[in-house]
Amino acid sequence: MQGGDNNWTCPGLSGSQIRGCLVKSETQVDDGATLLIVEDDPAMLVAFRDILEREGYVVSTATNGTDALAALQKDNPDLIMSDISMPGMDGVELYKAVRQSPNGAAIPFIFVTARGTREDIFAAKALGVDDYITKPVTSHELLAAVRARLQRSDELMLIQLKAVLRAMANAIEARAGEYTLRHVEAVNAYTQALGLELDWTQDDLDALEFGAILHDVGKIGVPEKVLSKTGPLNEDEWAEMRMHTIFGAHMIEGNPYLESALPVVRHHHERWDGGGYPDQLAGGDIPIGARLLAVADTFHAMTSDRPYRAALSPQEAFQEILSQSGQQFDPAMVQAFESCWHRGDIAKIHKSVQSIAEEDSIIIAA
Ligand SMILES: [Fe+2]
Ligand SMILES: [Fe+2]
Repeated sequence: MQGGDNNWTCPGLSGSQIRGCLVKSETQVDDGATLLIVEDDPAMLVAFRDILEREGYVVSTATNGTDALAALQKDNPDLIMSDISMPGMDGVELYKAVRQSPNGAAIPFIFVTARGTREDIFAAKALGVDDYITKPVTSHELLAAVRARLQRSDELMLIQLKAVLRAMANAIEARAGEYTLRHVEAVNAYTQALGLELDWTQDDLDALEFGAILHDVGKIGVPEKVLSKTGPLNEDEWAEMRMHTIFGAHMIEGNPYLESALPVVRHHHERWDGGGYPDQLAGGDIPIGARLLAVADTFHAMTSDRPYRAALSPQEAFQEILSQSGQQFDPAMVQAFESCWHRGDIAKIHKSVQSIAEEDSIIIAA
């Protein structure tokens, strides 16, 4: 993220720690992840444990499949690495039992074994095992396999998390009526365009995506009669509506995966001139992600039909955004929006959001 006024980071976590919560880089030491090693050779078990603990992993061990299943329940590992040939329950049986266990279905599972014939490898892959390493194995190979599997697992988790959050956010928006169709997707698309224009890093763009998805999630706490009112809100109703920023912030605080979105969720209705809500922050005191999203959020609101007024044209909404530079909006964000506008990015996003929303209304009307 640019400049010294980066207020994006959430309390108690640095930018890299937030990123660490979301996606781990290939070379990053994955300290804190818990690994379960299953190996009946004591010397080999100690060697594996030492290599992995030196890298900061938390390691639990078992010498056969039965003990490993007990450790699975107790230690809730992020990854399992197992031998195949072991007394009692062997590695293949363990793999099948883990996959049938409710808390083991998605855990990355690696075989590390001396059985390295083509048939063995084919049989293991056919089972669906995530990786297969043959002994002797170097520490480099071991760590590379563990890191790759943990990273892939995090990426998949992140994709699923975003999908679930999007569905939840859309359901909450739907309480306010059809005009909010695709609000989350639209705001996300506009914010990503602005973030790219400002050369924000991938980490910051990821955090921005969470902010866009979750920015209005606190509307779950606003009465439906206020959200779906077809006329302008009275003062009491506005007070209830404004609470969505505080409700939303309370909903995600304390969650390490979502907390990077907290500044956006709480502060996306602050104004550059200090006249916004909930904390009347002004200028650079407003978190930068919230300053950026405010422009995108307002543009989409203005270009959407409301029960009590028709949508403004994109051109009219653009002029309105320009006129609010230095009042409602951060001039730097308005400038970024203007650049995206002149390049045609805003028109492109507006067009695709419109066509998806029209398809949605056809489905709803059918
Ligand atoms: Fe909002
Ligand atoms: Fe919004």
